[in-house]
Amino acid sequence: MTHCITCSAPVNIAVIKYWGKSDEALLLPANSSVSVTLHQDQLQAQTTVAASHHFEKDRIWLNGQEQCINNPRIQNVIREIKRRARKQKTDSRDIAAERLNWKIHICSKNNFPTAAGLASSAAGYACLVYALKCLYKLEGDVSAIARCGSGSACRSVHGGFVVWDKGQRLDGSDSMARQIQPHTHWPDLRVLILVVNEQKKHTGSTEGMQVTMATSQLLKERIRSVPDKIEQITQAIHDRDFKTFAEITMKDSNQMHACCLDTYPPISYLTDVSRRIIHLVHCFNKHRQETTVAYTFDAGPNACLFLLKKDVKKFLHLVKRFFPPKTEEQDFIRGNTKQLMENLSND
Ligand code: DP6
Repeated sequence: MTHCITCSAPVNIAVIKYWGKSDEALLLPANSSVSVTLHQDQLQAQTTVAASHHFEKDRIWLNGQEQCINNPRIQNVIREIKRRARKQKTDSRDIAAERLNWKIHICSKNNFPTAAGLASSAAGYACLVYALKCLYKLEGDVSAIARCGSGSACRSVHGGFVVWDKGQRLDGSDSMARQIQPHTHWPDLRVLILVVNEQKKHTGSTEGMQVTMATSQLLKERIRSVPDKIEQITQAIHDRDFKTFAEITMKDSNQMHACCLDTYPPISYLTDVSRRIIHLVHCFNKHRQETTVAYTFDAGPNACLFLLKKDVKKFLHLVKRFFPPKTEEQDFIRGNTKQLMENLSND
């Protein structure tokens, strides 16, 4: 007998970033964070888990390639899910209990570049944890288990606008994500993802935040400032106040990347193209005399832009003009602010 479950989980975009851990083993964050989970049919991971008494060993495939199942984070997730499921089964004598002793096969794929700073591990681990939860008929919140796979994954367990509370307990049991507003709360909000580079990032988030934590003075100041920012952005989300939401989002992204540069040796995730996107957004906002577009960058050069539905067409038109593929892009790289402002005025 084989039991099989397929789930999908979307990427989440952090607007108040998680950067730095207070406990490396438990993946406890140095600060709480806030994110927006994309819709299910957009950037997503899809995972099938199968349990069978015919399987001889646990196995995992990612985007068609077999990976080592002994990866400690994958093992932590499987162990924790099974521990919770066994505890629950002892209480309820559920028939799904027999599956807990069978070997499992996991097959996961992303519909977007993996490890290019587009939160692929967040969607991947959230999806794996949710699929295992369904396989073993586990009840309750599993965001703390997803956190054991990749910190930011705990936020992808929920839809809409999500806060990951860093928690107070040393065992991490209260370090979990919760939804603050459903995705229906702000129907006009849109996200554009500009893929600058699909390559795997040079310094992974885990390693990058470790070195920042160890060497950056600026990070200490950032950690102190996060609670106020979370309060303000939560209120802005609640009020659908785009200007405040956008400005806090951009400043937080800039601050995280400033901490990366303050790291020793420095880490720079942004490329010239990323910086030109930042420049385009500020020029556009200046020209419109209001904040209508916001950028944020994770541990990579790709830009996530927030804007309202009414501004998408106009801004996309500009993006296509200033970031055309190949040779014309070279011309833009030689361009300057004056030309940019002139072009904006002509629109
Ligand atoms: C820049 O969750 O990938 O995307 O917990 O070590 O797996 P680990 O790190 P990860 O870090 C994400 C960092 C970020 C910001 C964020 O998503 O909050």
